[in-house]
Amino acid sequence: MLEVEALEVGYGGIRAVKGIGLTVRDGELVTLIGANGAGKTTTLKALSGLLRPSAGRVRYNDRDITGLPAHELVKSGIALVPEGRGVFARLTIEENLAMGAYIRRDPDVAADYNRAYTLFPRLAERRKQLAGTLSGGEQQMLAIARALMSRPKLLLLDEPSMGLAPLMVQKIFETIKAVAAEGVTLLLVEQNAKLALELCSRGYVMESGMIVLADDADSLLRNPQVRHAYLGE
Ligand SMILES: Nc1ncnc2c1ncn2[C@@H]1O[C@H](COP(=O)(O)OP(=O)(O)OP(=O)(O)O)[C@@H](O)[C@H]1O
Ligand SMILES: [Mg+2]
Repeated sequence: MLEVEALEVGYGGIRAVKGIGLTVRDGELVTLIGANGAGKTTTLKALSGLLRPSAGRVRYNDRDITGLPAHELVKSGIALVPEGRGVFARLTIEENLAMGAYIRRDPDVAADYNRAYTLFPRLAERRKQLAGTLSGGEQQMLAIARALMSRPKLLLLDEPSMGLAPLMVQKIFETIKAVAAEGVTLLLVEQNAKLALELCSRGYVMESGMIVLADDADSLLRNPQVRHAYLGE
């Protein structure tokens, strides 16, 4: 579904992503782990069209999408749940969901609000509440629900567990699992390497802008290097 080749992304003269390659197959759950500053967010921003790659190629469903802007990519089925949620604080939950659906003109949108509220009953109870007044966990739920309103085929998630208490992290991961079970393909960036590798079937390890390891999630969980650097052992 997604094929990334020799992708380079930079900020001015600084190269943050230095020629990485990765693939995600249709229906797969793939994780990208790595330390702070490794280039994970930069990668997801390039894949979702928020940053233009300086080199390399991105193919999505056999189409070259390198450098296409975010609104084009959303239309083709790629949605990002950004790091730090990025909810519209002064809009209500319902309005945030509407923003997620703004590219759609089909009559199924109404049903998708219900799907979002079924997946996240906490959002349903609070639908008229301003997003800025939600708890961190609720904002994360809203960020995921908003992304789902575009009916993505490929969902890019950037650190959904960040800053959340263990119980809320569990809840968020359960919903991510439920989303995947509906057939949405996932590329998940996570600091919590253990959780990510337990959820996903394959993983990539990123260091200083490069992919240094790529393997099945089970093998990565057993890999001494990974255990030492990312699992605190
Ligand atoms: N807007 C920016 N301008 C300049 N440099 C940036 C910018 N955003 C990120 N960088 C740099 O790019 C590199 C990769 O950052 P990135 O945010 O992609 O890392 P990350 O792997 O997501 O880290 P974290 O786990 O802390 O979220 C870092 O060295 C960072 O300082
Ligand atoms: Mg990041």
